[in-house]
Amino acid sequence: MKLATIGSGSIVDLMFKSIEGIDGIEPVAVYSRTMDKAKAFAKKHQVAKAYDDLDAMLGDSQFDTVYIASPNALHYPQAKKALEAGKNVILEKPFTPSRKQAEELFELAEKNGVMIFEAITNIHTPNFGLLKDNLDMAGEIREGVLNFSQYSSRYKKYMDHIVENAFDPKMDGGALMDINIYNIHLALGLFGKPERIVYLPVLGWNGIDTSGVLLLQYPHMNITCIGSKDSSADYLATLQGEKGTFSIVNGSTGRMSDVLFTPPKREMEQQEDLKISVDQGLHMTYEFMDFLTALNENNKEMYEAYKAQTLLAADILDEALAQRDALAAAGAQSL
Ligand SMILES: NC(=O)c1ccc[n+]([C@@H]2O[C@H](COP(=O)([O-])OP(=O)(O)OC[C@H]3O[C@@H](n4cnc5c(N)ncnc54)[C@H](OP(=O)(O)O)[C@@H]3O)[C@@H](O)[C@H]2O)c1
Repeated sequence: MKLATIGSGSIVDLMFKSIEGIDGIEPVAVYSRTMDKAKAFAKKHQVAKAYDDLDAMLGDSQFDTVYIASPNALHYPQAKKALEAGKNVILEKPFTPSRKQAEELFELAEKNGVMIFEAITNIHTPNFGLLKDNLDMAGEIREGVLNFSQYSSRYKKYMDHIVENAFDPKMDGGALMDINIYNIHLALGLFGKPERIVYLPVLGWNGIDTSGVLLLQYPHMNITCIGSKDSSADYLATLQGEKGTFSIVNGSTGRMSDVLFTPPKREMEQQEDLKISVDQGLHMTYEFMDFLTALNENNKEMYEAYKAQTLLAADILDEALAQRDALAAAGAQSL
């Protein structure tokens, strides 16, 4: 994989670090809106080419894959351009805010004989696989609470009416899109499509959801996904089953650092939590390893599985955003 990047936020720094040890991925070019920044970023990451013109970069035949880490609202138009230029695309989460846009991108990829992936870390980690393989230990899961609550460094500014991308509805910001999307993917990866969804947002002064609770209802099971940019809590996901409980440390953030299993309280005498996870290192490495495999092997089975999950997530975003916007339009109380 010869790689070009779009965006120069901290997630791109982490991406460069995460692919360092992967044989077969070679960064070739970076794009930034200004040449000074592009050159500085290229130097920082020892990448040969710097561009401030996206069309010019996409016309460069020296790379085959673009990693897009721009504000959410630019995902669709930039991915579209890249696919039209015949590049594979690794698109940061959330893929697109709607099913329609997501489908369009997948169709375009197929038409141009390339692949497009959503960069959602959690489902690619070894610890996600271990959790999924051992889920039966807990018996029937009845309740899950996946909580990703991270007070945003941009929240204070937002409350002072200085709106950065993460709190801007026009940039597809908000707690659902930025944060709760990890929980959505965790739930979808483990349990598939829910029967019903309800989104209860806390609305900010411009109609953005500064936090919110997304309820995913399955037959005989509820998964409560909490996403917050206005307050913090432990990054914990718990899954409560009839025969025990899983506690997933950083399970809501996409890292999946630790997976612990606790038997039911009454059977707990002398028993300690059972750790079923491994030390993974950088969690972002695994998605890139999977994308590399899918591309190198032209592995349609992997590709279709990731695509199906991304489309399901887009369905949930569609529905939850419609519920959020209806509440805002009805003049629901906002901060
Ligand atoms: N996977 C993860 O764990 C993870 C973590 C954090 C973020 N993300 C995702 O990564 C993406 C980027 O997040 P971020 O927090 O880095 O976003 P951001 O700071 O708002 O913007 C990312 C980059 O896009 C460019 N940019 C900013 N505003 C722009 C505008 N108005 N028009 C055009 N380009 C603009 C900037 O790069 P230049 O100035 O160089 O052009 C900036 O560095 C988002 O989709 C986010 O959801 C993923």
